[in-house]
Amino acid sequence: MTKYTFDLLKVAVLTLCATSYVLFPAMASTNEERYSLVKSGWWGSDYQKISNHCNWTAITCNEAGSVTDIAAHYWPFNLPPSSLKLQNLNLTAFSNLVTLYLPRMQLTGIIPPEIGTLSKLVTLDLSYNNLHGELPKSFASLTQLIVLDVSFNSLCGTIPSELGEFENLTFLSLASNRIEGPIPQQLGNLRDLQELHLSNNLINGTIPSSLGRLGNLTSLSLASNQIEGHIPQNLGNLKSLRKLSLSNNKLSGSIPLTLYQLGNLSYFYLDSNQIEGQIPPEIGSLEALEVLNLSCNSFFGPIPSQVGALIFLHELYIEFNQINSSIPSEFQNLVSLTTLYLSHNKISGVIPSELFKLPLSSLHLSTNQLVGHIPFEMRNSIRLCDVDLSNNKLEGFIPSPIVNCFLARVNLSNNKLSGSIPVQIGFVNILDISHNFLSGKVPSLLVSDNASWSQTDIGRILASLDLSYNHLSGSLPIELANLLHINLSFNFFKCSEGFKVFHKESLIGNTPNFPSCSSQVQKTNKAKHLIVIILPVTCILLIICLFILYFTLSTNKTKIEQRQAKNGDLLCIWNYDGRIAFQDIIEATNNFDFQYCIGTGAYGSVYRAQLPSGKVVALKKLHQSESQNISFNESFRNEVKMLTEIRHRNILKLHGFCLHNQCKFLVYEYMERGSLFHVLNNIKEVGELNWRKRVNIIKAMANALSYMHHDCIPPIVHRDVTSSNVLLNSQLDAVVSDFGLARFIDPDSSNQTFGVGTYGYVAPELAYSWTVTEKCDVYSFGVVALETLMGRHPRELISSLFDTSPQNMLLKDLLDSRIRLPHSQKDAQDIALVVTIALACLHSKPNSRPSMLQVSQQLSSSGQSPLPLSFFEISIHQLMAQEL
Ligand SMILES: *[C@@H]1O[C@H](CO)[C@@H](O)[C@H](O)[C@H]1NC(C)=O
Ligand SMILES: *[C@@H]1O[C@H](CO)[C@@H](O)[C@H](O)[C@H]1NC(C)=O
Ligand SMILES: *[C@@H]1O[C@H](CO)[C@@H](O)[C@H](O)[C@H]1NC(C)=O
Ligand SMILES: *[C@@H]1O[C@H](CO)[C@@H](O)[C@H](O)[C@H]1NC(C)=O
Repeated sequence: MTKYTFDLLKVAVLTLCATSYVLFPAMASTNEERYSLVKSGWWGSDYQKISNHCNWTAITCNEAGSVTDIAAHYWPFNLPPSSLKLQNLNLTAFSNLVTLYLPRMQLTGIIPPEIGTLSKLVTLDLSYNNLHGELPKSFASLTQLIVLDVSFNSLCGTIPSELGEFENLTFLSLASNRIEGPIPQQLGNLRDLQELHLSNNLINGTIPSSLGRLGNLTSLSLASNQIEGHIPQNLGNLKSLRKLSLSNNKLSGSIPLTLYQLGNLSYFYLDSNQIEGQIPPEIGSLEALEVLNLSCNSFFGPIPSQVGALIFLHELYIEFNQINSSIPSEFQNLVSLTTLYLSHNKISGVIPSELFKLPLSSLHLSTNQLVGHIPFEMRNSIRLCDVDLSNNKLEGFIPSPIVNCFLARVNLSNNKLSGSIPVQIGFVNILDISHNFLSGKVPSLLVSDNASWSQTDIGRILASLDLSYNHLSGSLPIELANLLHINLSFNFFKCSEGFKVFHKESLIGNTPNFPSCSSQVQKTNKAKHLIVIILPVTCILLIICLFILYFTLSTNKTKIEQRQAKNGDLLCIWNYDGRIAFQDIIEATNNFDFQYCIGTGAYGSVYRAQLPSGKVVALKKLHQSESQNISFNESFRNEVKMLTEIRHRNILKLHGFCLHNQCKFLVYEYMERGSLFHVLNNIKEVGELNWRKRVNIIKAMANALSYMHHDCIPPIVHRDVTSSNVLLNSQLDAVVSDFGLARFIDPDSSNQTFGVGTYGYVAPELAYSWTVTEKCDVYSFGVVALETLMGRHPRELISSLFDTSPQNMLLKDLLDSRIRLPHSQKDAQDIALVVTIALACLHSKPNSRPSMLQVSQQLSSSGQSPLPLSFFEISIHQLMAQEL
């Protein structure tokens, strides 16, 4: 009570101060605004420090001092939870408000009816909050809105049909709420609409055919509702559509043929409905398709050979249908395919060996009627990490090694495979080959012959092995008992001494031999009598042991403490002999146990290690093979020493290295969010990468490369700039990693190298020349910059740039469609500038590319010229024609 009057008093005083120098006609209204802001309590005590509320966090005013924007990404004030109630802000006061942008602010309460008084409101974003209740009736008067996003709240009620009168609306999202009732057909009047998101609600009824009038729509998602009926024919008119998501509804009928005319459709999700019919040959005209999910429907008949035309297809899911053809040989044309799920159909024929020429990482063909052998080529497919061929009629031998990917999971169970278990299984983590006709002994080392891994490493990689229901026999290698899960049941194993180490449950069904094992167990029972004699002796020994243990522990403890003090931070690792740091690392990672492994790359595996000091570092353990020769060690030492001396805020800090007979590793700063590639491809995280953050990441890369090229003597060329080598910390700030690594891995070739870089990022001149220059990095930078803004690799774009008759693509269509188009002028300018620069970096002639110094200067130049056109009209070709 008293606090409230005190606050009011302060407001009054401050208001007086404000009035004394702000003498505008609109004064009365700015005072009301100020009063409303203070009274909301949202700004904590900020207003005591800054008199003019226009300068407060999240507030923007017009020249007359009236609030136009309330926009924030996060709230810096330390307020008690749930005090950010939307009703507490009296919205009536803000007659000039244009932007109310408060996503992820933990707002609670309802959307107050006063919102209807904001007649100038253009952007309303209250997404990812905890708002409940219905959209108020007064909402109908917000007809100026261009962006309306209230997704990820707990709103209920129905979709107001008045939304159909919001003529300027380009973005509408009510996704992930509890909205019920039908989709009003009036939404078909929103001619400018580009994105409509209604997924994850309780919407029922049918898809109104009026939606077919939304000619500008690029993304339509109605997934996870209770929508029924047929897919309307005229959705085929949505020529701009890039993403169509109708998953998890009750849609029936067949896919209307008109839908196959959507030449821009890249993402098509129709899974978990009741769609039936054949997949028609017309599927081949969806040329832009990248992801197609038709799983869990009633498609029958063959997969048409025209599927082979979908050369951009990355992921194809047709699980749980009634497909009954063989896998068409045209699949070999799907040169982008990484994921193929065809399980639970009636697919017959053999597995075409050409499949393994594709960049597949996941292959699920389980529960079909496939026959023939597992093609030997499977073991050559280096990316294949997840294979499920279970429940078919496959016969013949298992390839050796089975796969070549690190930590793979493989299920070949329930087939007719015969022969013995391959001695080399590769880096398989989970292996199920149960229910087959495998015979012979279980090989003692289920390991790969890859020299870069020691046997103990491999032993740790295999974690689960199911060999049950085969015809295996002989004795058992006892190492297998260390696996997390092992099943040897229902085979013909002979009992031997080693059997005791296995859990009984993992050996059942090995009759008639198993009982003789239990008799051995009984022998040990006889030994019980001996215990009576041994027990007193043991007790005495035990006491002595405890004493010894106590003393060793206490001396050890001081040793560890000494070491901590001596080592301190790992920064100075070379000042000590490698052994000490090595011990810390071995302890922190439990001798490079794979549970600490956070990734693998071309040079080795990366581990997360928490040092005794509490500091977390990343360890890059290099593959073994190089460490054998002495000249390598020498150059390694020199090179790394130089790299550790580099200090730049956009370059991953290399704290030190460790050379040891057994292993060699680099110690790096730990980046919490992993690689840019990871975040861009993670549906949960990508939303956090807004345009500002993305532009900053690109600037950081440019600064890092510019520093290495122009401020280091001699210049250091990275050689492998990719989105996987750009790492992000918890704030999503970027650093470039692996600088110089390429060179010391291959020290003999100062400028020349074989097979440098990563496919998709290397400059075109490296195809005919082996000379690596800074300009190769510039090219790769251009690729990653575009990838950052597009959210995916710009493959098609780059090839289309050099077409003789290029299609005139618009800038806005290039941008990552998973986040909203930029709505601030600054973001729009930055994006246009980045794309202009990136395109210049992709010039096919190295000399025509800008230098990284020019790039970083351009990007940081403050006085940017305003855009010549509206952002939505700028085309890629205009940007290509721009002078830098
Ligand atoms: C909200 O502000 C308006 C005008 O500024 C005022 O008339 C109204 O009384 C205020 N409402 C509340 C609940 O404070
Ligand atoms: C494809 O559909 C299946 C079945 O509904 C679903 O489990 C899976 O997550 C979908 N995958 C993608 C990438 O949409
Ligand atoms: C596939 O199923 C259809 C009907 O469902 C049938 O007409 C056709 O003969 C079947 N094809 C094969 C190869 O079994
Ligand atoms: C091994 O498989 C058999 C038969 O399926 C099962 O009864 C047993 O519980 C399994 N053992 C383990 C350890 O999972």
